Amino acid sequence: MNAREFARRRRALMRQVGREGVVVLTAAQPKVRNRDVEYLFRQDSDFFYLTGFAEPAAVAVLIPKREAGEYVLFCRERDPAREQWDGPRAGLEGALEQFGADDAFPIDDLDDILPGLIEGRTRVYHAMGAQPEFDARLVQWMTTPRRDAGELPQELVSLEHMLHDMRLYKSRSEVALMRRAAVVAAQAHRRAMQCCRPGMFEYEVEAELAHTFRRAGARTSYPPIVASGVNACILHYIDNDKSCADGDLLLIDAGCEIESYASDITRTFPVNGRFSDPQRAIYELVLKAQYAAIEAVQPGNHWNAPHEAAVRVITRGLVRLGLLKGSVAKLINDEAYRRFFMHRTGHWLGMDVHDVGDYKVGDAWRELEAGMVLTVEPGIYIAPGSKGVPRKWWGIGVRIEDDVLVTGSGHEVLSADVPKEVEEIEALMASAPGDLPASARHRRSRARRATPVGAAS
Ligand code: GLY
Ligand code: MN
Ligand code: MN
Repeated sequence: MNAREFARRRRALMRQVGREGVVVLTAAQPKVRNRDVEYLFRQDSDFFYLTGFAEPAAVAVLIPKREAGEYVLFCRERDPAREQWDGPRAGLEGALEQFGADDAFPIDDLDDILPGLIEGRTRVYHAMGAQPEFDARLVQWMTTPRRDAGELPQELVSLEHMLHDMRLYKSRSEVALMRRAAVVAAQAHRRAMQCCRPGMFEYEVEAELAHTFRRAGARTSYPPIVASGVNACILHYIDNDKSCADGDLLLIDAGCEIESYASDITRTFPVNGRFSDPQRAIYELVLKAQYAAIEAVQPGNHWNAPHEAAVRVITRGLVRLGLLKGSVAKLINDEAYRRFFMHRTGHWLGMDVHDVGDYKVGDAWRELEAGMVLTVEPGIYIAPGSKGVPRKWWGIGVRIEDDVLVTGSGHEVLSADVPKEVEEIEALMASAPGDLPASARHRRSRARRATPVGAAS
C-alpha cells in the first residue's frame, strides 16, 4: 500500500467530518501473554487504515481545514538504547518523512499539546471503548478549561460509522492485497489436502498451513481450525490436538493476513482421500448451497440474499435425506434447519476477518455494491448422538467457505484456487506436493496402501 493511498483516505475522512470536527485515533496497545512475554503486536485496523503506521504508543489527530487538512502524529522518539532491544522506531523525523505527517510530537507530550488541537472544534470523532484509559483522558481534555484557550468541544461523536463505511468499499490496491491473501491461503489448503493421511495429528496438518503462510511472508489471520471427525461439529474448535482417523472428514478453516488484509477459507475433505457415501451426501448438499449463495452475490441484491439461498438449498436437501421432516416452507419459516446449520452464511472480510461495516441500513438489509468483500460459508453439523438421526450421519461436520468480491457486474471468487468438487479434491489428495520430503511421501503411500475396506483407494 503506498503513502498516497493513506493520504487519500485521510482526506476523504476529513471531508466527511467537516471543519467543525476533529478526529482522534489511538494505536493498539501491546498485550501481555504471560509474565514478561507479549503477543506479537498487531496494529489497530482503523489506525493502520488511516496512517500505515505500525508502531504502538501513537496517537493520530486529523484536523479538517479549508484546504488539505492537517495530520498530526504523536509517536515514540528515537532511542538507540531501546531500539537495540525492540527494533527501529520511526521517530518524529520518520513520522514526517515516511508517514506523511504534517507535524509530529513525542507521545509523552500528549497532555500538553492535544488539548490545543481539539479546542475551537465543536465535535471530536473517536472510537470509544477499545482503550477506556485513553477515553477518560480525552473526556478530561474536552472538559477541562485551560487559561487563554479557545472554546472546548461540545460533542464526542463515534467515529466508527463514517470510517467503517469507508473500509467496507475496497479500493483496487486493497483488492489486490486480499487477492494475494486468498491465493496464499488457497495454496496452504491445497498443501494440507495433499499432506493429510490417516494417523496424522491435527497440529501436523496445521504445521503444513503455517509452512505455506510463513514462506509467503504471511501470518494467520485468526487461529486456524483443524478439526477431524466429530471435532468439526464444534464451530470454534482450535485445540487441533487429535489424531485424524481413517474414515473421518477433516475440516480446515484457515486464512492468512498480508499487509493487514485477511483471507478466510474453509475446506472439508476425507482424511483418507475418499468420501464415504453419507459424507459425500452431506458434502454435496453444502456445496450446492454454497454455489447457490455465491450466485446470489450480485450488486443490487441485499446482504441476506446469499444466506436465504443457502437456507433454501440446505432445508430442501435435509428433507430429501430424511434429516428434517415436513414442508420445506414451514421448516424454513420455523428455522428448523438451525439444528444442523446454526450460523450465518458469511460476514464482511477485509483488514479484520469479521470486518467492519453495517449489515443493515435502518431496518433493511444493505444492498451489495461493487468493492465489498464477503465470505460465503454454509455448513451442516450433525453432532454425534443426535436424537432421531440415523447413526450413519453422526459426527459429520462440513463447511465450505470462500472469499467473494462484489464486482460491477456480478462477483469474483478470490479463493477459487483451492478445489471443492469431490472429484477434484480426491484427485488432488492422490498427489503429493513437490517439496514434500521423500520420507513423508513414502509414509503417505504406505498409509494409502493400508487404507481399510470402505475407503476404496
Ligand atoms: N474463521 C472465522 C469465520 O469463518 O468466520
Ligand atoms: Mn468466515
Ligand atoms: Mn473461516
